[in-house]
Amino acid sequence: MEPDQLENLYQFDKNGDLQKDIRALRELGPAPAVALPGGVRARAVVHPELLKVIARHKLVSKDAGVHWPTYYNKQLPEDWELLPWVAGKHAFSTEYDNHTRLRDPLNKALHPRQVQVMTPRIEQIVAAALDRAAAAGTDPVGLPCVVDLRETLTLAVPIAVISELLGIPDHLAGPFQRCADTLFDTTVSREQMRANQGELQQTLEALINHRTAHPGDDLTSVLLSEEDGRDLTPVERMATIRLILVAAIETVGNLMGSAIKALLTHPGALATVRAGEATWDDVIDETLRHEGPAGGVPLRFPVEDIAITIDTDNGPETILFAAGEPILPIWAAAGRDPRTNPDADQFDLTRDKPQHLAFGHGPHYCAGAHLAVVQTEIVLRAAFDRFPNLALAVDGTSIGTTPGFIANGPAELPVHLGQANTAKVAENGHPSKRRGKGAARSAPPGTAR
Ligand code: HEM
Repeated sequence: MEPDQLENLYQFDKNGDLQKDIRALRELGPAPAVALPGGVRARAVVHPELLKVIARHKLVSKDAGVHWPTYYNKQLPEDWELLPWVAGKHAFSTEYDNHTRLRDPLNKALHPRQVQVMTPRIEQIVAAALDRAAAAGTDPVGLPCVVDLRETLTLAVPIAVISELLGIPDHLAGPFQRCADTLFDTTVSREQMRANQGELQQTLEALINHRTAHPGDDLTSVLLSEEDGRDLTPVERMATIRLILVAAIETVGNLMGSAIKALLTHPGALATVRAGEATWDDVIDETLRHEGPAGGVPLRFPVEDIAITIDTDNGPETILFAAGEPILPIWAAAGRDPRTNPDADQFDLTRDKPQHLAFGHGPHYCAGAHLAVVQTEIVLRAAFDRFPNLALAVDGTSIGTTPGFIANGPAELPVHLGQANTAKVAENGHPSKRRGKGAARSAPPGTAR
């Protein structure tokens, strides 16, 4: 695209301030034109109703290989920053029968019954991460010091959980962590992106070789098995493992980080949880609404020219999308929309029904939503129980956000842990006793087109 044409498109905030982008885009209308990295033009969708219609529309596809001419005519640089988000042979980037075939093994592996089987192990992972946080919170002469919970807890836990789910052996844990750290950053240079992708590819090959030789009860072994993996090609198996890695770490870390930050900056809200007037589930739902962990998730393409009519503040409005025009749904925008949530910018646990689309909508609704919520609940409960005086070490407003427009969460979480509570976690601390609203996230409404 020519530079003068680019200037007319909305440019995402360079510091990754997604809420600033969402406010600005909402002012521009339901689907304003934005500039993606590399000067690619897309239509960003921020209107909640339009997001839902797009996600279920039979003539809107995620398959760039079939429905994005710019991609299948090879007009993008080979190292285009967002290529990993549109080029995968996995459930995330396929449609119809292919989507069902590639999604089925994931539905099985991430079913709430399977998550329940993983729960005791997740509790151990969280306890070990809190032990490491406690150790990091004491300096060499035994004095308390500041700990970054993003590093020691909110990223460490999902990395360990996904390593367990995928059967990643210890000797590959380091390379996996390095790859995971940078995958969501849409501001990395092309050289860096190429290097990250190269390392990720090598690590995935090493994982597949390892699990071919040493099968276990992990998802990689399932995808390689005669029974569940027989309908997948080797390329699709590799892509599916890569998808899980990309989908399941930063997002979960952001949910945990935003929830902890919200509670530490809203002591009244934390007090209502401690008093039993709100549940951890309420905290998670309100965090999903207030700081959707996934922002703009690339990309969708109209199969042909389409017109969609929605209600706007100015009455019914018809929005036109041209065939093959990239669409960027901004899932985090729905929760902050004042039309669906009064006082949407306020974090408020007394909200009746927080409305959000943090896990997407329709056939591509997040396959790991239940696992994400269960992990987060265990982390919140355990962290606030063990460190009752947990406090931010800096002013909450000085904490920046993760870079890029795909992920959305605090870039760091410097805290003082305070005196640890050495008493055992309360009996009612078990996640299976979660009540209410969020319990059925694996079977959301509207998963059909
Ligand atoms: C708080 C954490 C998470 C958030 C906010 C989140 C958000 C999302 C969103 C918005 C989508 C839909 C993308 C689209 O329609 O373009 C999605 C899809 C997906 N997510 Fe998640 N996710 C989270 C955690 C996880 C976890 C833990 C896993 C796996 C263990 C996972 C696996 C997937 C997969 C496989 C898809 C693709 C589903 C499909 O296309 O059929 N996610 N996620």
